[in-house]
Amino acid sequence: MARLPTGVAIVTAHDRHGRPHGFTAGSLCSLSVDPPLLLVCLATSARCYPVFARSPRFAVSLLREGHEHSELARRFAGKSPDKFSDGGFVPTERGGTVVAGALAVVECVTRRRVDAGDHAIFLGEAEHVILPEGGGRPAVYADRGFRSLCGADCARSDMPRGAGP
Ligand SMILES: Cc1cc2nc3c(=O)[nH]c(=O)nc-3n(C[C@H](O)[C@H](O)[C@H](O)COP(=O)(O)O)c2cc1C
Repeated sequence: MARLPTGVAIVTAHDRHGRPHGFTAGSLCSLSVDPPLLLVCLATSARCYPVFARSPRFAVSLLREGHEHSELARRFAGKSPDKFSDGGFVPTERGGTVVAGALAVVECVTRRRVDAGDHAIFLGEAEHVILPEGGGRPAVYADRGFRSLCGADCARSDMPRGAGP
């Protein structure tokens, strides 16, 4: 499955003291339109797992291609005791903590947790979506590294239709 490219997100939730916790996630996908559901999978061995298991909501920040967000993904895949201290996050109106400059943010209510082997699947219903204008390219992870959707023909594919040679 490491050969299957995935998008990358930082998923965050707050503990009962209001402190943010989070992890880097590639096992996430959209699930349903009505109601709008997505799912994200978290190892039960993760230190942040108890926080997510108890939290009534979580937020998914989709990362962008580029050094800044790939470094953030590495930080949140590591074991630093305070992953948030180096910044890169902003508060939301709903009280969430999300990645600054994310490609998109989905704030979810946790609808269900399904135990699945050494992971649990969290089903979140989208409560609020933040979709900055301008789009941009997503972070892509495959074969244990960050890749680019922008290959050798990047310049050509970014050109307006009909502008190629
Ligand atoms: C690109 C990437 C994607 C990842 N996807 C997931 C995932 O979907 N689920 C998961 O449990 N861990 C995933 N991990 C690993 C977690 O981010 C990592 O184990 C993290 O440290 C867990 O948080 P903790 O500090 O609370 O233990 C991923 C790591 C990387 C680098």
